[in-house]
Order: sequence, then C-alpha cells, then structure tokens
Amino acid sequence: MSSIILVGFMGAGKTTVGAELAVRTKRTLRDLDATIVSLAGMSIPQIFAEKGESHFRDLETESLRRVDPSESLIVSTGGGIVERPVNWALMRARGQTVYLHAPWDVLRQRLARESGRPLANAENGWEKVEQLFLRRESLYRQADYVINTEGISARVAAEKVAGLFQSKG
Ligand code: S3P
Repeated sequence: MSSIILVGFMGAGKTTVGAELAVRTKRTLRDLDATIVSLAGMSIPQIFAEKGESHFRDLETESLRRVDPSESLIVSTGGGIVERPVNWALMRARGQTVYLHAPWDVLRQRLARESGRPLANAENGWEKVEQLFLRRESLYRQADYVINTEGISARVAAEKVAGLFQSKG
C-alpha cells in the first residue's frame, strides 16, 4: 500500500476531492498546505508576504518529506508542488500521483469565488494566472494518472480516482 497523491492547479478541487476520497477509501487525508501553515505558524498569504515564495517552496518540500513513505494516505498538495523536480522524486517514493484536470475557464470561475491564494488574486490579473496554468499543464501531466473533473462533482471525481486503485489496494 502507498499513498494516493493529488496534484493540479489552484481551484482544481484537490482538497475537496481528497476529503471525499479519504471517506471512500477509509484513508486519512493529509493536506500539505495545512502542514505548511503549521510548520510556519502563519497563514500562506503571510508566509508569501513576510518570507517570500522561495521560503514557502522550501516548506512545501519539507511538508512532503514529512509524509512517511510507509503510510497509505490521501495527500492533497498545493498547485505549485510540481515546480521542483525534487518534489517529484519525493512524491514517487510515496505513492501514485493523480492529476485533477479542469480547463482554465472552470478554474478561473472557482478562483474568482475564493480568496487566500497569493498567486491567484485579482491584483495579479487573470492573464498572469492563466499563463502560470498553461506553463504548469505539462508538469501536471507527469502524474501517473489524469482525471478530467470538468462538469462532475467532487464526489464523482473521488469515485473515479478510487476506481483507479480498486484492485491495487
Ligand atoms: C499555490 C497553490 C496553493 C498554495 C499556495 C501556492 C501555487 O494551494 O500552496 O498559495 O503555487 O499554485 P492550492 O492549489 O491548494 O490552492
């Protein structure tokens, strides 16, 4: 047994799908953004503002290292985890990766309704965020599996992910 690790852009529903998946598979959900917040003792916007993005990325790698490779968890990652090659090595040593894909239009609508993401706020301008999404798309596709979440609920997306692993424990 090993962990199921969800990757994808901000707004792809990694945490929501992860929570559904955890219930379905009777596994524990480990949200790496939450680990980062507890390691830093401050919120993600605060880390970016006071320590900078590269410090955030160091904490992100550390949050991944803290996932025990012998555990069978559902791991929900932050959208930028795919940026550092070392994170791929750490993820692959801990389980199977699943890219939750949604088209840009869907992501933008979701992101416009939510706040608390330093790299996706109105001040940055949506064009810049879209460029980030387009640049990362090929990185996300390095995942072991891709699930298209367009037009389906988090519950159905979780069923699809669970289906990938049904006979594999
Ligand atoms: C980030 C995504 C966020 C969070 C941080 C940076 C990114 O996580 O880790 O704001 O670089 O895409 P979510 O994908 O859960 O929003």
